[in-house]
Amino acid sequence: MIENKVCVVTGAGRGIGLTVVKELLKMGNTVCACSKRESKYLVELSKAKSNPNSSLYIYQFDVTDYQEAKNAIQSIWRESSRIDILINCVGAPHGSLFSMTKVDDLKNIFDINYFSLLYLSQLVARLMSRNKSGVICNISSSSSFRYDPGTLVYGSSKAALNFATKVLARELGDSGIRVNAVAPGVTKTDMLDKMDPNAIEQQVSQSSLKMIADPLQISSVILFLCSNEASHITGQVLQVDGGL
Ligand SMILES: NC(=O)c1ccc[n+]([C@@H]2O[C@H](COP(=O)([O-])OP(=O)(O)OC[C@H]3O[C@@H](n4cnc5c(N)ncnc54)[C@H](OP(=O)(O)O)[C@@H]3O)[C@@H](O)[C@H]2O)c1
Repeated sequence: MIENKVCVVTGAGRGIGLTVVKELLKMGNTVCACSKRESKYLVELSKAKSNPNSSLYIYQFDVTDYQEAKNAIQSIWRESSRIDILINCVGAPHGSLFSMTKVDDLKNIFDINYFSLLYLSQLVARLMSRNKSGVICNISSSSSFRYDPGTLVYGSSKAALNFATKVLARELGDSGIRVNAVAPGVTKTDMLDKMDPNAIEQQVSQSSLKMIADPLQISSVILFLCSNEASHITGQVLQVDGGL
């Protein structure tokens, strides 16, 4: 259970991030939901209060623009004077064989899936450390552990994120900040529309449970890692993939 916290969620316009936002609002938290485009789902949520103790603030920016990201975090800090939880759900898929991979795509995917999470975490951790407490949860991927052909760019951006999660946990522990990651397997969101159906089928059939996850099955683990129940867990990359 998470209550009365100020939570920043990126990639919040749809999919796993949106599910996390909904759950945090139900529990009674202040949620700063960050998306790139206007999200009709977030607009709807802002009109319907699910808990009298919850508030939703919507921020729209492209995470690959450092200055825009910095402005958003500063604005959240000015409004709330506190950030307790940062959940980095932002992410973009990519699939192509190495020989066909364009350098621009390589850089763009790393900008979205890795560099943006690093500087957002740095901006937020500096503020969290003033209060000597905070939690960061990154969303990685089962692809970071599988080494399937065609997944070099996406998988390595997430593998870099796993590494960063563990180093940041070591560096930020003294400041009372925990850093973990969740690595989902195939999960039913819009992202599946951009993935190779054969790759989806292969991952699902190779898993022990042989099922596509519902975003709630991922968000529940993210929220557990951000809660006090997980107060002694840091530096972990938890695979939530139906047993791949
Ligand atoms: N779905 C899966 O099977 C799966 C499996 C493993 C890992 N994951 C990871 O889980 C996380 C959430 O994915 P999802 O399935 O919920 O995907 P999704 O439905 O496609 O959502 C991705 C979110 O990231 C945002 N985003 C992308 N590029 C952005 C940018 N440059 N600036 C700001 N926001 C940006 C999108 O914003 P807009 O809505 O504005 O476009 C969207 O809200 C990602 O990190 C993904 O890699 C997903």
